[in-house]
Amino acid sequence: MKDFLQLLNEFRARFGADAKIYRAPGRVNLIGEHTDYNDGFVLPAAIEFYCWVAAAPRADRKLVLHSENFNETIEANLDAISAARKNHWSGYPMGVAWALEAAGKHLKGANLLISGDVPLGAGLSSSAAIEVAVGFALLDQSGLSINLTELAQLCQKAENEFVGAHVGIMDQFISCYGRTSHALLLDCRSLEHRLVKLPPGIQLVICNSMVKHEIGSSQYNARRAACEEGVSTLRTVLPEIRALRDVTLAQLERHRALLSPKVYSRCHHVVTENDRVQSAVRALESANLRALGQLMPDSHRSLRDDYEVSCTELDLLVEIAAAQPGVIGARMTGGGFGGCTINLVESSAVEAFKPNVAAAYFAKTALQPEIYVSPAADGVCRVEVSSSKAGT
Ligand code: GLA
Repeated sequence: MKDFLQLLNEFRARFGADAKIYRAPGRVNLIGEHTDYNDGFVLPAAIEFYCWVAAAPRADRKLVLHSENFNETIEANLDAISAARKNHWSGYPMGVAWALEAAGKHLKGANLLISGDVPLGAGLSSSAAIEVAVGFALLDQSGLSINLTELAQLCQKAENEFVGAHVGIMDQFISCYGRTSHALLLDCRSLEHRLVKLPPGIQLVICNSMVKHEIGSSQYNARRAACEEGVSTLRTVLPEIRALRDVTLAQLERHRALLSPKVYSRCHHVVTENDRVQSAVRALESANLRALGQLMPDSHRSLRDDYEVSCTELDLLVEIAAAQPGVIGARMTGGGFGGCTINLVESSAVEAFKPNVAAAYFAKTALQPEIYVSPAADGVCRVEVSSSKAGT
């Protein structure tokens, strides 16, 4: 947990003023992968890893951002935010300021000290965390009201149009709406959402493969394109559909011959994954852990074989995890091509799980995985510094 009194002191030393503190979490997705940009369903939870922002207003329209992680300061004028350097951390916060301004939010200039503890590049949405924390901070500093759904949408817009990553809305949404002890079922078309209580006695255990394959972002866009191709072909016979969300498995099978084998496989993943999300919610709500334990490896296989976004390291981590006592289910989580797996593990088995998985993974890859145990956490907020947790 960040020592936010220290962050306040650092802010004072750097900017000579008192600050307010904000934080937004990263996320892990329990099930529902690559469904968000197909208008489908997802079931993520926020995790206890955050992007922290200390902020104070300025008298002018300047934005001064200092990243503690990168030890770098970047400035911009809110009246003329131009494209950021490619693959540079400042693209996310600048993009959010740009999207807020473009949506007619008249922001005040501000000094921001940004410090994140979401592992970078691990598929746990450090980018959504910085976007949402900065967006929330800028709105609050400007005395503007905050609608969390709109904030999530504008953060997604920043990432799509300013940073240039064509992600769906899952990550930003859960960073806004996460809740302690709950996952969130989100309908990515209507943005209707409801909390799903996680059963007691189970922990979310995240295994970081420590690899991030470069092809990830180009392949992400290629998968989106294949889904779009599938929809436009299927519309010739199913004119009522707008997205793969609208296609049933029976319809997909009936019209399979219209699609290339690759496009069929991509569509097959999305259609079946949407069903798995619904089944997973039913399983969680009826405490049917055995059913949930089937759905997670099914999702992983579908991502590996139909969607082809897994990699040998993720497959290995899932295989090793599945062989451990007390594991309910394991699968890759996030965009794929490296990053993390999510494991639902009985609380009493977690302590043995960690060294056993680490040793078995190391033996095969010579990589030391990082393993995080995180309760489901709350979404973005302004941290009340006077609270009893100060300094913890
Ligand atoms: C990344 C994107 C999300 C989602 C996942 C895959 O995390 O940011 O929008 O598409 O991949 O489920």
